[in-house]
Amino acid sequence: MTDTDTQAAVREQVRARYAAAAQAVTGGGEASCCGPAGEVIEVDERFGAGLYDPASTEDLPEEAVLASLGCGNPIAVADLHEGERVLDLGSGGGIDVLLSARRVGPAGFAYGVDMTDEMLELARANAAKAGATNVEFRKGAIEELPLDDASVDVVISNCVVNLSTDKPAALAETFRVLTPGGRIGISDVVAADDVSLAERARRGSYVGCIAGALSRSEYLEGLAAAGFTDASVTFTHQVAPGLHDAIVRATKPAEVSAPAAGLCCAPAEAATCCEPSAKASCCGAEATPSARVASSCGCRS
Ligand SMILES: C[S@@+](CC[C@H](N)C(=O)[O-])C[C@H]1O[C@@H](n2cnc3c(N)ncnc32)[C@H](O)[C@@H]1O
Repeated sequence: MTDTDTQAAVREQVRARYAAAAQAVTGGGEASCCGPAGEVIEVDERFGAGLYDPASTEDLPEEAVLASLGCGNPIAVADLHEGERVLDLGSGGGIDVLLSARRVGPAGFAYGVDMTDEMLELARANAAKAGATNVEFRKGAIEELPLDDASVDVVISNCVVNLSTDKPAALAETFRVLTPGGRIGISDVVAADDVSLAERARRGSYVGCIAGALSRSEYLEGLAAAGFTDASVTFTHQVAPGLHDAIVRATKPAEVSAPAAGLCCAPAEAATCCEPSAKASCCGAEATPSARVASSCGCRS
């Protein structure tokens, strides 16, 4: 088996696991999911709806609450504001999208992306029941997001990055769809740095959100490699020995809008700006007499 085959096989196990969880709720039961016991545990206070203030979920459709399979409350983490555009990675039955939509109001919008058809169907039904009009659930993988570049202000996620079989791609895609200055507020299972990959696998399954967990250092390195700044990973409570529910925050740097010294343009535009033929139109009020000299570079010399 190649690495690609292995990744595809693991992803299929994840999809099947969460399709079954969605069907359990649609059939009138309660979803069960993540946990340290190797396979599946019933949702308890460490996972699912128990992590939310009951008052915040009481007017949501019951199926959205029953389908909650997260390991935190990213709405509390992300500090959402009116008018913001939010994306939830691995939106499941839609609880965090519906709560986000309420928080950002009619001027804002909440997207959910999930790869599992049964979860998408459940989430769309929950949105219809809730009467939410500023939400949309899209089918897709978090490693290849079906959203345009710089199209959302905030990315949230609840116990999903650990399930990704290509975490660098998931973090790079998250960076791509965020607007400059945008932020992430993610809940995830994260390992202590001294817990090896083999130990993580012994302490719980991949589909149970344990074996695929990054360590804190791996998370911070992955965020930095994707381009994020101001990253932090804060453990909240232990879910298995050495494995913790954690809050992950980071920022996509705002674009450099101020011109670099000696140039009238942002670095990306400098090549054309410095062409003598472009100086008159591109420098505008920035032009100095010396900059108009064809041989000088930039608008302000
Ligand atoms: C543990 S559940 C969490 C669901 C939801 N965030 C919540 O808090 O209830 C994981 C969800 O992520 C989805 N998922 C897992 N890996 C994914 C991937 N690589 N791309 C898209 N969705 C994924 C699953 O289909 C499932 O709905």
